[in-house]
Amino acid sequence: MRGLLFTVKGGVGRTTTAAATAVQSARRGLKTLVLSTDPAHSLADAFGVELEHEPTEVEPGLYGQQVDTQRAFEDSWREVQHYLREVLESGGVDPLDAEELTVLPGADEVLALLELRAQVESGRWDVVVVDCAPTAETLRLLALPEALSWYMDRVFPRERRLVRTLRPVLSQLAGLPMPPDKVFAAVERLHDELSDVRALLVDPATTSVRLVLTPEAVVVAEARRTLTSLSLYGYRVDGVIANRVIPAGSTDPWMQGWVTAQQRQRDEIATSFGAMPVWDSTYQSQEPVGVDALAALGAQVYADIDPLTINDTADPLSVERVSSDEYVLSVALPHADKRAVDLVRKGDELVLTVGSHRRVLALPSVLRRCLVDGAALRDGALRVRFRPDPDVWMRS
Ligand SMILES: Nc1ncnc2c1ncn2[C@@H]1O[C@H](COP(=O)(O)OP(=O)(O)O)[C@@H](O)[C@H]1O
Ligand SMILES: [Mg+2]
Repeated sequence: MRGLLFTVKGGVGRTTTAAATAVQSARRGLKTLVLSTDPAHSLADAFGVELEHEPTEVEPGLYGQQVDTQRAFEDSWREVQHYLREVLESGGVDPLDAEELTVLPGADEVLALLELRAQVESGRWDVVVVDCAPTAETLRLLALPEALSWYMDRVFPRERRLVRTLRPVLSQLAGLPMPPDKVFAAVERLHDELSDVRALLVDPATTSVRLVLTPEAVVVAEARRTLTSLSLYGYRVDGVIANRVIPAGSTDPWMQGWVTAQQRQRDEIATSFGAMPVWDSTYQSQEPVGVDALAALGAQVYADIDPLTINDTADPLSVERVSSDEYVLSVALPHADKRAVDLVRKGDELVLTVGSHRRVLALPSVLRRCLVDGAALRDGALRVRFRPDPDVWMRS
């Protein structure tokens, strides 16, 4: 099963290019689902058909699905949220820390991810293309599985099942509100399911993210920031689609003006994203609506290239032993601004902030016994140096 996610700013053609890519995939004989997590129901408009909340056949081998985030959501998630807040407030976790570390996600994001998981698990699809919501929502969505893990580790002891029998005692001892059984079960299930989703989304063998942009300064700048944030969260971006490229050759001065302006941005795109393939998608003379128009657009964009090929990307995270007493943890952060990057070690975790995005990284065991010796941002990667902590190594 191959997964492909399309994202960046609203209105640039994410839905259109995701749908066009799915048509290419289906016409190569692969059973393909396009799943839209965008509350703006434009996937149906792009295909020019009605879509259900279940996968709906658009043409043989090609299905579309609009995740319905308005649908009454299982109350369990609200209970879980309520419970987690209560725990934090009652002092089980320093509320300021918790606030700072991670944000409780909303029901929409949870639903979209659970539906994605359900479709992948169903085994029905060779390819699942995800038409994502605009950037901010997508990033919230993609940060969620890890954020919930963070809560799980904080709020629930590791031997979760054991706790069930000890609950009354523990509750008295710790002064913590213990979760009612159904919340307990719901959190456990959600955690497992979202861990599956996360594993799926960061699996280098199957999944990659494509950035969709238009050759406009504001959009390119946002795409650069999106690449940084996606890398921070460990996702692999393996291609860029520059949409609505105005064809050169017109004698009309207004058109020529746009061609020149776009050319500047296309140079910028080549500089910023040149390490990965950049596909041009021409501004069509009308909205590419319907499977045939999308097929024509897709054929133009990809030419003879298989759009499903996963292109090489750097590892988002790696640990290297550079000498007998030095390790380096590298986190890919292309285009990150040094001033926006912040790094704090908290016990066995590294809290990494880039602008308004934060990831809590559980340190690999070898680094837990080390001290942070310094960090530097260079060539699109943050390199954190670790040296063995003499105290810890002596004791062990
Ligand atoms: N290459 C293109 N040429 C002409 N119109 C396009 C092109 N790509 C997208 N559009 C049109 O632009 C509008 C926004 O596209 P859409 O894919 O819905 O954007 P997004 O999903 O990023 O919000 C739609 O009306 C769509 O038909
Ligand atoms: Mg859209």
